[in-house]
Amino acid sequence: MTGTSRTARRLLFFVLLWTLALLLLGSVVHATNSSLACPDWPTCFGSMMPEMTGGVFWEHLHRLWAGALVLLFAAAVVVVKRAHPERQDLFRLGVVGLALLVVQSLLGGATVLYQLPDAVSTSHLAMAFAFLVLVVAMRERAGPGWPAGERGRRATRRLGVAGGSLVFLQSVGGAVVRHTDAGVACPDVPLCLGRLVPPLEYPLVLIHFQHRVLGVLVVVVVLWHAARVLARVQEPVARRLATAMAVVVVAQMLLGFVSVAQRLGAPWVSAHTLLAAVVLALAATTAERARARPQLGEVPAP
Ligand code: HEM
Ligand code: HEM
Repeated sequence: MTGTSRTARRLLFFVLLWTLALLLLGSVVHATNSSLACPDWPTCFGSMMPEMTGGVFWEHLHRLWAGALVLLFAAAVVVVKRAHPERQDLFRLGVVGLALLVVQSLLGGATVLYQLPDAVSTSHLAMAFAFLVLVVAMRERAGPGWPAGERGRRATRRLGVAGGSLVFLQSVGGAVVRHTDAGVACPDVPLCLGRLVPPLEYPLVLIHFQHRVLGVLVVVVVLWHAARVLARVQEPVARRLATAMAVVVVAQMLLGFVSVAQRLGAPWVSAHTLLAAVVLALAATTAERARARPQLGEVPAP
């Protein structure tokens, strides 16, 4: 790997950490009831530098952080293009990422101007998670790839793809729970309204309960695939990723229960959003590392 290529990957890793921090901030904006603290957009009380107190602190910080993300990601795309001028696939991902950020910022504006429609807020979370996956894919595709031949690659890829897809869907479901205010429709844990299966004719109870049940299923599927990787694959990076996914997904489920027990206290639900994003990033890394592709220097078959 050349020096510019290493710089490109480091910069993309920084973009990834910045995005995770932005997702956490976005979640704090909602959890602290700061979503409409700035009544206008793109300015806040007509200014780009409003007084940073109360809810304005969280909401405007989220906007400034998002603005910095656009600049950082644009810089990363330029550096990736310089490091790999022949790789149109990487450049295309960069352009799609920039487009996602523009649409995401417009959606953020729409949440404010239209006063938090559920569908817009939920799409805002889904787009944020999609952008996170794109950044991981770009960084991994600019790297050396799976080092150790075919053995174990498929099992590792399955963990990444199955785990990542389920965590993404579960997270969008979580945003529905949040934005329909179903978070305490089951106010008790581990039972729901004192029963193993609550009365499902109430829509909010149904929305909440399916998130719990599917959450536990997601954990089971991730643990099963992670165990297969640990049993079959010797490649150390794959083993570390499988272990990390298993640990974080269990912590995520526990945080879900604690969030309910703590009546959706801001630190708990914000950590719940952050850990969902961390598992997703780990899954995307796992899937991309184990993606079938020609090794560097290998000539593709005609
Ligand atoms: C200037 C552009 C942006 C504005 C005005 C904005 C605005 C907001 C607002 C008002 C909320 C609270 C929504 C609610 O309570 O329903 C929010 C949440 C959030 N934002 Fe942004 N945002 C912007 C850009 C971004 C970007 C670029 C990302 C990530 C790539 C992002 C990620 C998030 C996330 C993950 C949440 C939490 C969503 C949830 O709780 O379901 N935002 N944003
Ligand atoms: C792998 C499993 C899980 C994942 C990936 C996941 C992910 C998420 C995500 C991303 C959100 C939306 C946060 C936001 O909009 O910013 C959410 C909301 C929520 N989740 Fe989970 N979740 C999981 C399991 C669970 C479990 C087992 C529970 C147990 C009760 C739970 C309880 C909740 C609650 C109550 C909310 C709403 C929080 C609020 O209203 O602020 N989650 N989940």
